[in-house]
This record gives sequence, C-alpha cells and structure tokens, in this order.
Amino acid sequence: MPKIILEHITKRFDKSGAHNAVQDLNMVIEDREFITLLGPSGCGKTTTLRMIAGLETPTEGRITIGDTVVFDSATGVNISPAKRDIGFLFQNYALWPHMTVYQNISFGLENLGWTKDRIRDRVEEMLTLLQIETFGKRYPSELSGGQQQRVAIARTLAPAPKVLFMDEPLSNLDAKLRLEMRTELKRLHASTDSTFVYVTHDQLEAMTLATHVCLMNNGLLQQFAPPLRVYNDPINLFAAEFVGSPTMNFIPAFAERTGMNTAKLTAMGHTFLFEGDDPLIDLQEGSKDNAVLGVRPEFVQLEEGDLRGVVYAALPAGMETTVQLKAEGQLITSVKFGGVDYTVNTPLYFNFVGSGLLFFDKASGKKLSKGSIKLVDNA
Ligand SMILES: Nc1ncnc2c1ncn2[C@@H]1O[C@H](COP(=O)(O)OP(=O)(O)OP(=O)(O)O)[C@@H](O)[C@H]1O
Ligand SMILES: [Mg+2]
Repeated sequence: MPKIILEHITKRFDKSGAHNAVQDLNMVIEDREFITLLGPSGCGKTTTLRMIAGLETPTEGRITIGDTVVFDSATGVNISPAKRDIGFLFQNYALWPHMTVYQNISFGLENLGWTKDRIRDRVEEMLTLLQIETFGKRYPSELSGGQQQRVAIARTLAPAPKVLFMDEPLSNLDAKLRLEMRTELKRLHASTDSTFVYVTHDQLEAMTLATHVCLMNNGLLQQFAPPLRVYNDPINLFAAEFVGSPTMNFIPAFAERTGMNTAKLTAMGHTFLFEGDDPLIDLQEGSKDNAVLGVRPEFVQLEEGDLRGVVYAALPAGMETTVQLKAEGQLITSVKFGGVDYTVNTPLYFNFVGSGLLFFDKASGKKLSKGSIKLVDNA
C-alpha cells in the first residue's frame, strides 16, 4: 500500500537559487521495496531522504506516501514527520545509556500508548528477529558496536513503521561487521512489511542490498533501476564508472556508423566492427574520439585473442586476480578467477569478449548500445 511517489522534487538551500541540491527528481518507490540512494558526497542523497521523511521542506514538487499527499508545494500541504508513519536510523544511532536494551526498545511504544502486554510481545519479537534475545537486561555500554546497532534497528522497527529511512547506518562499523549487518538488513527486509529507503555512498552496499538503486550526481537523478541493470546497462558514463569494482575500462574510439546498429571503431591502433542491440543514431560523428567503448574487467580475456599488451601489475586477492595491462598507451584492467601471478612486463595476448560491451557517445556521455566487437584490421 505505501507506495512513495516523488514528482518534480527540487530543493534549493540558498535563496539566490543558483544551486539545486536536488533537481526535478521523479521516482516511484513501490511498496516493500529496498531502495538505496547512491552517489558521491554532496550529490543530494541525505537531502532526498530527509524530504521524503518530512525533515526537510522541498522548494518545489509533490510527495505522496500511500494514499496521502504528504507534501505539495502547489497547495501548501506539508504533513509533519510524526504523522508520516515512518522510522529513522541514522549514522549516530544514540541509544539511551541509562536504559536497558529492553527499555530502549519499549520506550517509543509506551509513548505511542501501547498496552503493557502488547509492548512485551513486540519487544520480544524484535529481540528474536535481531538475535539479541539474551541482551534484554543489559545496558548499551555492555554491548559491542554491532550489538548496539541491532538494538537501534530493533528500536526503529518496533512500532512497525510503513517506511524505514536509513542514512549510512553502518558507516561506524568495521568492515567485517558491516558485511554481517548488510546480510541481516537484507534478511530483515524480507521478514518485515516495511519499505526501506537507505542512503549510502558505497556502491557495493547499494548494489547488494537494493531492489532498486537510485543513482544521483550533482542533485540530478542518473538512473533508477534494479542493481544488475545499473551494472549491465548503465545509462551513461557516470553510472558506468560509479558502479562496479574494479572500474569498467573506458577505451576512446573513433566511430563511424556502417548501419543502424553497427559501427566501425578505430581504437588502440586497431579497427573493430561493433554490432549492438540498439540503434547508434544518436552518435555524434565527425570528431576524432567521438565514442567510448566500455568494457567490464570480466570481459577482458587474457592469453587469447589478437590484441597485445604487457603486464603492468597483477594483484592476486585469493579468489580472483586483478591484472592490469598496458596496451597502446592505455591501461586495461582484467579480472581472472583464481590466484594467478604475472611478472611485470610479461607480454600477453588479450581480447574483449562477449556481448556485454558498451558503446557510449562521448559528447553526451549517453550509452547508445550494448553489443560485441570483432577485430577487422585486414578486412
Ligand atoms: N542545510 C543546508 N544548507 C545549505 N546547503 C546544504 C544543507 N544541507 C545540504 N546542503 C547542500 O546540498 C547538497 C546536497 O547535500 P546532501 O547532504 O544531500 O549530500 P549527500 O549526498 O548526502 O552527501 P554525503 O555523502 O557527503 O552525505 C550539498 O551541496 C550540500 O552542501
Ligand atoms: Mg549524506
């Protein structure tokens, strides 16, 4: 039921109106989704979250939660956060130090006027859900950081908010705990009826948790799509570069269209034929490097093919090895499964394989098509 709709949401903090923290944002968040707001520092993630929650007033636009318009700049509607049926979890999730875990969770329910029995049942349910049953009588100072975090989550979820807002809630935790809490948040989402809206600048966190990623840059929505779509079909160069680690290879190319979906590419001292799924009609022809070929590291095959390079560095991480090659002055990153080691400066053949290569128009940055390439040097 509580679908969240943002229509033409704009936020300007300075009166002069020069800079939009968020600009003309349109988004539909379906019920029970797990949305991550992702993007570099200052791109407008927190501002967006706070506007949906009612903690920040948009300059323009309309926000609907469920059947209720909670904000509309045209009619002056602005429903307070307390009446939006939502919960918060922020980076600094201060628990009350003088209260036990049980009291920390029950406090908010008492304020809502719940009966004693109902509160006891709900607190016990939350303690079980977050696997902190044995800590009910302890004080926050007697818990580890991760346990405290779980108490904070339990406290936020206890009143069963329709929408749960989280702003980088795991950023105070160490890497291992963060990974554990990620798993638990995902399981938690599956076992509650709440919609989750989660802010992070960590692309891996955003990708692994979300049903939809809202990728922003400079106050502008770049792409709103399921994580794997953003990964496989990034809408532009920014999305392609921001998501994925190691980063996608970007190879400057001179492209000339040879058909609706095909183009001749001159790149890295070779000539290729690109054949794509989508038309390349928006390609701006003429200038020397008018296109960019995007190649995920997993599509760079080593020790096979017609392209030649030398090993620049090999970084074995155990499960996989990142191999960087230098070819025609260009650094190419490849990922190989397993631990392999290459000596620096070893010559290697390589190849761009598969049908997941991306063709970008350089001037607009737009991805025009996904497809494959064939070397046609002597054709
Ligand atoms: N209260 C404020 N007054 C003036 N400008 C603000 C205010 N809050 C945010 N901004 C500006 O709005 C823009 C977006 O800020 P926001 O906090 O939403 O970024 P963010 O994406 O959450 O970044 P981070 O990852 O660093 O938390 C920034 O340019 C910021 O400086
Ligand atoms: Mg922020």
